[in-house]
Amino acid sequence: MDTPPLLVTCGLPYTNGPCHLGHLRTYVPADAFVRYMRRTGEEVVFVCGSDNHGTPIVVSAEQAGVSPRSLSEKYHGHFDTTFKRMDVIFDHFGMTDDPTNHQRTTAIVESLIKEGYVYRQVVHQAYCTKCKRFLPDRYVEGICPHCGTPARGDECDQGCGKHLEPGEIKEPVCKVCGTKAVFRDQEHYFFRLSGFKDFLLPYLDTVKGTTNAKNYAIGWIKEDLHDWCITRTLDWGVKFPGRDDLVVYVWVDAPVGYIAFTEEWAQKTGKDWKRYWCKENRVTHFIGGDIIYHHCIFWPALLKGAGYGMPYSIVASGMLKVDDHKFSKTRGYVVWTNEDYLDRGLPADYLRYYLLSYTSHTKELNFSWKVFGERINNEVVNILGNFVYRTLFFAHKEFGGVPEGEVDPAITAEIEKWQKAVDDFMQEYEFKGAVDAVMSLAAFGNTYMQNNAPWKLVKTDRAAAATVIKNSIQLIKALALLIEPIMPAKSQECWAMLGYADAIASHPISEVTQEIIPIRIPAPKPLFVKMDDQQIAGLDALLQKRVSEANKRMEKTPIVSIEEFQKLEIKTGRVLAAEPVPKSNKLLRLQVDIGSEQRQIVAGMQQFYKPEELVGRDVVVVTNLAPVKIFGVESNGMILAAGDAASLLVPFKPVEPGTKIK
Ligand code: MF3
Ligand code: ZN
Repeated sequence: MDTPPLLVTCGLPYTNGPCHLGHLRTYVPADAFVRYMRRTGEEVVFVCGSDNHGTPIVVSAEQAGVSPRSLSEKYHGHFDTTFKRMDVIFDHFGMTDDPTNHQRTTAIVESLIKEGYVYRQVVHQAYCTKCKRFLPDRYVEGICPHCGTPARGDECDQGCGKHLEPGEIKEPVCKVCGTKAVFRDQEHYFFRLSGFKDFLLPYLDTVKGTTNAKNYAIGWIKEDLHDWCITRTLDWGVKFPGRDDLVVYVWVDAPVGYIAFTEEWAQKTGKDWKRYWCKENRVTHFIGGDIIYHHCIFWPALLKGAGYGMPYSIVASGMLKVDDHKFSKTRGYVVWTNEDYLDRGLPADYLRYYLLSYTSHTKELNFSWKVFGERINNEVVNILGNFVYRTLFFAHKEFGGVPEGEVDPAITAEIEKWQKAVDDFMQEYEFKGAVDAVMSLAAFGNTYMQNNAPWKLVKTDRAAAATVIKNSIQLIKALALLIEPIMPAKSQECWAMLGYADAIASHPISEVTQEIIPIRIPAPKPLFVKMDDQQIAGLDALLQKRVSEANKRMEKTPIVSIEEFQKLEIKTGRVLAAEPVPKSNKLLRLQVDIGSEQRQIVAGMQQFYKPEELVGRDVVVVTNLAPVKIFGVESNGMILAAGDAASLLVPFKPVEPGTKIK
């Protein structure tokens, strides 16, 4: 039987915000995997697209005053360009709101209905009486029924992480206007997910991918598997068949996008999409660790119910932290791909190297600029870059290029050893292991040059020096071929430095041991530039500034009850006299008539008002503050003024001194 081709996908980004490090933690490894597999001779299709439906996009579009379609098109373009800038190259990048996906989703939902996997049921849905609408998913916020933490309508995002069904959230509040929501009955459609337990458990037992994905999923299924409501009261989305007032839940039409994008790609290239999705296949989903439930449980059940083949492999990335804090856009612990990185002229390859090599794909990645700089300088520049440069520099200077002669079998064996290691790691989605293996070969090269010192040897035995250089250049060739999936741009540069004129990506990995032919090469320039400390400090300062600004934004003003407010006594007063406080250049001493009595009040107004300007003016005074001494002068009240220039609050219409403010 012929093995089906590989189809690799990445979790689709929502079109309501820009690309950040969290996205890249999934996309870069997927791209490296695809590049590697292609160069082992596999037929691979790599598709992705943007996720346009669902309430987050409707809410963001509403806030921006644009249509959800136009917001989606804007961010769709943004992701498309950003991925290309990162050298993450899809064969097709579609949109879930395009006709192909509307059609495929409708067809799948119709099959599910026909096969009896969908039923109707009345749910108590949160409803806002002020906005006069139902509040699906992220239109509502409240308390998680499982753990009691504040949560969004569809997910307990701060607490236990559980998925919430419509109607489950406690104490719902409308996200748009803040009104306490009520529950109203509404008929919805449910997918009989609970009926798939006996299918899912053995399926997950055999599914390939990372163990985090399957183990979590198996645990959740054993705990409890309940049906999912698959309709929402929204205008934006794929219409539920036969119902103009309902759309399907975004988590139905988003994964169906994987199929639709394959169809669009097949259309362009004259291929048959069914080969990728029906029966036995090798669909490999790269996803973030937060959407395992959707991909390991909900999605396979949908596919099974509608009669499609099952995903072959699910690869879930671990958590991302920034400076030891949970990744969070609102808290400022975020790194934006363009603004913070690419737009500053930093090479995509450095970030790719860092993301792939920091830790195992399923473990927590704790980003910091300092570590980023260290890893690039100590590994990429000092080991790989140094070996390539010193070797080619000497080769050019002494031999004008790649010298004649044979490659030592011990060198070939060393290359084969590390190539095998890279292959084992790549097949297991252990990208860090693969990068480390490549770097071990580079370190071997460095040591080999150091130990054999061709710059000394050349003075006594020119032929022996030529052999050392020949061996070293063979190592460089192998390194360039092996590092391509990780750093595609730099590997291409290195390839050109070896005298090749074509694209390195068109060469199979197996050429690592194919002997390099003698050729003239130009004087090399260093392949990598060091990250300088100042630049790293600047990038770090930017992150710290963003965090502190976010903190300020989030410091909430406490809520004061009306009873607490009424404890203040605020009255109008008339200024009878004013003079500077001796030895102070800020303070004025005022005598103020507050109706029942006369008060002495010290106010910081010398820079803004001349004393005579104030005499006779009506002002607003807090009259029941505890007296204080300022510059030795007693102050018995506070005059209300706005802003840094102390603009006085004054009564709009004439009133008697001592009139109560209420
Ligand atoms: N947009 C979703 C998210 O960011 C991912 C959708 S992946 C798909 O969480 F499977 F639905 F396509
Ligand atoms: Zn409302």
